Amino acid sequence: MADKKQQVSRRQFLNYTLTGVGGFMAAGMLAPMVRFAIDPVLQPKKKGEFISVVEVEKLTNEPQRFDFEFEQEDAWYTSTVTKSAWVYIDENEDIIAMSPVCTHLGCTVSWEGNEDYPDQFFCPCHDGRYEKDGTNIKGTPPPEPLHRYEHQIDDGMLYLSTKAKPRGEA
Ligand code: FES
Repeated sequence: MADKKQQVSRRQFLNYTLTGVGGFMAAGMLAPMVRFAIDPVLQPKKKGEFISVVEVEKLTNEPQRFDFEFEQEDAWYTSTVTKSAWVYIDENEDIIAMSPVCTHLGCTVSWEGNEDYPDQFFCPCHDGRYEKDGTNIKGTPPPEPLHRYEHQIDDGMLYLSTKAKPRGEA
């Protein structure tokens, strides 16, 4: 009788020990996985990021196209994004930086892209046209002006925001 009691207790002891060790091992393996899965969601988002694009002294009164790149973190993925901007200095000495993405259906506009329309941006997809400041020309397909980048100047360099916004918001 005493032997039987002792045998049951050993079995229970083994069960508890193995369950406990197994539990610790499982928790040890799962914790990093859970942390990896939710970590990006817990990180604060970067806001108001500006990217260095060109020396201010290279800007003129004529729109010039500049491309710039930056790393974009999208939850679990980091990718390199390339953007472009048409940039010039207007008659008030303000820097104007516009997205080349047509506000009609997203084709790429070019400054003086059609010789019939000098001093205008031209979209080849549906003959969309914009004034130099990005205002859409009535009677052509684009429904709104070209979007604008916000800008900053630091140590002689022009920095642009990573996103262009509708006119009035930038
Ligand atoms: S996409 Fe530019 S005019 Fe249609």
